[in-house]
This record gives sequence, structure tokens and C-alpha cells, in this order.
Amino acid sequence: MLESLHNTEQQALSELQQAVDSAAMKEWRSRHLGKESTLMQNLGSLGSLPAAERPEIGRRANEIRRALEAAYQERSDELSSTSEAAPATTLDVTLPGRPVKQGRLHIATQTLRRIYAIWAEMGFQVYRSQDLETDEYNFELLNIPAHHPARDMWDTFHTNTPGIILRTHTSPGQIHAMRAYCPESIRVILPGMCYRYEQITARSEIQFNQVEGLAVGKNIRFTDLKGTLSDFARRMFGESTGTRFRASHFPFTEPSAEMDIECFLCAGKGCSVCKHTCWLEILGCGMVHPTVLQNGGYDPREFTGFAFGMGPERIAMLKYGIEDIRYFWGNDLRFLEQF
Ligand code: DAH
Repeated sequence: MLESLHNTEQQALSELQQAVDSAAMKEWRSRHLGKESTLMQNLGSLGSLPAAERPEIGRRANEIRRALEAAYQERSDELSSTSEAAPATTLDVTLPGRPVKQGRLHIATQTLRRIYAIWAEMGFQVYRSQDLETDEYNFELLNIPAHHPARDMWDTFHTNTPGIILRTHTSPGQIHAMRAYCPESIRVILPGMCYRYEQITARSEIQFNQVEGLAVGKNIRFTDLKGTLSDFARRMFGESTGTRFRASHFPFTEPSAEMDIECFLCAGKGCSVCKHTCWLEILGCGMVHPTVLQNGGYDPREFTGFAFGMGPERIAMLKYGIEDIRYFWGNDLRFLEQF
């Protein structure tokens, strides 16, 4: 009897190793531990055994039952952990794929490209100059000598090399372009990053783009400046955009002005962006100062010219109602993805 119990146990344990899924496990359980199983039958018929054999056989049969229960539990755990570790068997090839996000141009780049396209239509080429400048080009040749109070308008980042600075505006490009083109006439725009040693706030950044413009030739007059810039405004902001020119001061232009456009947000009703003036300041401009023409190699008695400078980020802020300039270089995708 003991021997037959031992064989039953061995048989059950070896079959358990063959079970590989929950159906086989269920089947094994009912065959070896169910009411009809040999083991249970033996336990049930203990009473019919001779009294001397009963305790020993009963103890052994219970021992085997506990061993089989434990083996069953262990095998179940083993099977469920291997099915989790092998997700390949449950890969659903009909699931839709994860979309790959498409990149896009930065809002500043988009605005710059729009500006380039408009000026290209009007016959202006892009002329690039470097971000690192000399004090001479950034200030002196633009009629801003050392200690001139106008230097306060451009807080400057200096480098370890005396006289080498990060350009505070794109205007030094005017001198580079003039010296490259002289004595031909010029129609160029000069885009680029500018740097100022400023407190970073919602309204001011230490780096930003500018687009400078320069036209030099014979018989260029202030009316050419007004007509050309008003045309730019209509192409950039819409055909019915009105402009006005206010007198201003820049050392490198004479006379100097600032151009405002009619507020395109409130159309004359007054809003917080235009501070209820219905006008938005867009750029600085003026007739190139005779001293600057001369520094560029042109004879100011023969040549005249106009220049202007605008901020693409400022234009984008007005156009899209962006209230904080820090978003531009903050690399927050939630902002960048909106454009
Ligand atoms: N450079 C000026 C600035 O940074 C902008 C500017 C004003 C450029 C008038 C010009 C100009 O060419 O004529 O504020």
C-alpha cells in the first residue's frame, strides 16, 4: 500500500512538469487531488484497512496530499511569471502604431523667413555678418564714440579680449556691407542674433534677433524710406495697414524716426496691447548719417541712403499675443508646438 502511494506521488509530480497552461493545470488538479483521484480514494477508504496499518498509511497519504498541493502552487506561480516575462507571445499586431511627432520651425525662424521673403520680393538681398564684433564697428563707425551718452541704449557683453564684444544690434553690418559694396548701390537686409547685458524680464531678453535694412544709392530720399517701409507693413500685416512715422533719435541716422502701424488687434477700438493708442511701434529707421556713409566708403555729397532695424520676436509677440519674451528661448515645447 505504501509503495502504491509512493508511485502515485511520483507519477503526479512528473505529470505536473508537463502541464504548460492553465487548462492543463486544472486538469492535473482534478486528476490528482480531486474527489475521484487515487489519493483521495485511498484517504476515503482508510477505515477499511486493518487497524495496525491505518495510522501509518493515513499519515503518509496526508503528507503526499500536502506535497502535491505545494507543488501545484509552485508550478502555477512559475507559469504565470513566465507568461508575463514574455510579452512577445501576446503582441497584438493589429494595434495602431505610435505616431512619430513631426518637428517644426521655431516661431522666430518662421517670422524671420516671412520677413526675408517680403524683402526679397522688394529687391533686398540677405547680407550676413558675425555675432562677435569690435567696439569700432558696433559703436565708433556708427557715430557713437567712446563715452557718448547714447551708448547707454546698448548695455554690452564684453569678452576677455579688449575691444571685442557681442554685437548689441545688427547695425554694424551696415558698415561691413557698405565696405563690401562701395561704390555700387546697396539694397540689403542684415538679420542676426544680438546680445545685451540686461535683466531678463517679460519684456527684455539678453539675446534676440534683429533684422536691419540698408539702401544706399544716388537720390534716395526720406519719401523712399516712408514708401518702402509702409509697403513692407502692408505685406507683413495686411493690405489695409496704416503707418505713421514719429521723430526719434539714433546717432547713425539723421533724421531718425520710429514707424508705428495701426493696431491690427483692435482695429481702432483701443486694447491693452496697443495701450489704447491704436498704434504699435514696429521699427526704428532714418536716413543714413553722412558720417556713417563716409565710414562705409561713400561720399555723402554724392550718395544718400536709408536704414531701419526691427525685432522679429517683437513682431511675433504682437501678432500672436505672446506676453512674455522669455518663452522664445525657454525651450518649452508646450509653447513652441503652438506655432
Ligand atoms: N540699431 C537700433 C537698435 O538696436 C535699431 C535701428 C534704428 C536700426 C534705426 C537702424 C535705424 O538701422 O536706422 O535699437
